[in-house]
Amino acid sequence: MFIYGKTGTGKTAVTKYVLNKLSSKAHELGALIEICYVNCRLAGTEYRVLSSLCDALDVKVPFTGLAVGEVFDRFKDGLDQQRKIFIVVLDEIDALIKVRGDKLLYELTRINETLRHGRTSIIGISNDLRFKEFLDPRVLSSLSEEEIVFRPYDAAELQDILWRRAQLAFSDGALHDSAVALCAALAAAEHGDARRALDLLRVAGELAEREGTAFVSENHVREAEKRVEHDRIFEVLENLPVHSKLVLCSVYLLGKTKLSYTITGDIYGIYCELCDQTGLSPLTQRRVSGLISELDMIGLLNARVVSMGRHGRTKKIRLGIGRSLVRNVFTNNDRFRELLGYVPNCFAGFH
Ligand SMILES: Nc1ncnc2c1ncn2[C@@H]1O[C@H](COP(=O)(O)OP(=O)(O)OP(=O)(O)O)[C@@H](O)[C@H]1O
Ligand SMILES: [Mg+2]
Repeated sequence: MFIYGKTGTGKTAVTKYVLNKLSSKAHELGALIEICYVNCRLAGTEYRVLSSLCDALDVKVPFTGLAVGEVFDRFKDGLDQQRKIFIVVLDEIDALIKVRGDKLLYELTRINETLRHGRTSIIGISNDLRFKEFLDPRVLSSLSEEEIVFRPYDAAELQDILWRRAQLAFSDGALHDSAVALCAALAAAEHGDARRALDLLRVAGELAEREGTAFVSENHVREAEKRVEHDRIFEVLENLPVHSKLVLCSVYLLGKTKLSYTITGDIYGIYCELCDQTGLSPLTQRRVSGLISELDMIGLLNARVVSMGRHGRTKKIRLGIGRSLVRNVFTNNDRFRELLGYVPNCFAGFH
């Protein structure tokens, strides 16, 4: 089975919930079922995924040192001897496939053909639909026998989820209906992400608590939204690859000039100077143009294509986030701190 849907739509939570039910029913009936949940992003390597599977069967393998094929054989023998139905959940499966290829997945989907007594079922989970492109058609056909799409939650569903959680987390009367409704509405308007809705409610609660107020109001939620958004952007900024950071820094520096907007050519000029300053070799203008589009897509830049009449078309670009945020993140970074104060040579022409 293959489960996919956007982030925060309950794929992990629902899969675990359903398998728990299945497991207790199996226990009740005395059926030989074993379930193993592996987060592939956390596991990181095929070896570690396989050793988690072995663990679930009490098959001993060392932390490292064996060939992957050997671990796989031990797993298969264990499964056959124990005559179990083995359900493997490979969560965030795209992380494994993109880096390591689909060899392990292929072996797993074929394993039933060689087992005499045991049986396996595979549940793959991903929030990246494109990852199917990385799969061998044979793997895809066995994995896609059953596909479930988790669509985004709507505001009413998010409210249900929030209230259920709030009963555990908040004192009676500490939450206004309108605060919960707002959390749900904000998260639904984005992309129905339950994780985000829960984050908003938690942060709103923390803000009310810090203030010493007895209940959480809509205002707390609005304040929480700013915080959560700020934290999210902060994290994205920090984790950008270095050349994207340099591009962003170039746009930031250009913001100090009196120009009302910036075009790709200007950014590229400053970007090359910054590369020079940091001792990195610059990428081509074409690549940088691609980076600008990516930064536009994640909202860190705003790029608009405008026609320049007979001079063709160009992109007008500005920062998509506050300047202070860029400054905060880059001040924490040794390499970039100095660049913030750098005065590009090509500025001479702008004034
Ligand atoms: N139906 C639900 N009932 C209660 N809580 C839920 C429900 N769906 C999601 N949640 C909660 O929302 C959060 C996000 O859900 P979950 O981790 O399952 O998302 P996901 O689809 O696996 O996201 P990702 O693609 O990022 O891994 C979790 O804290 C989960 O407990
Ligand atoms: Mg998940």
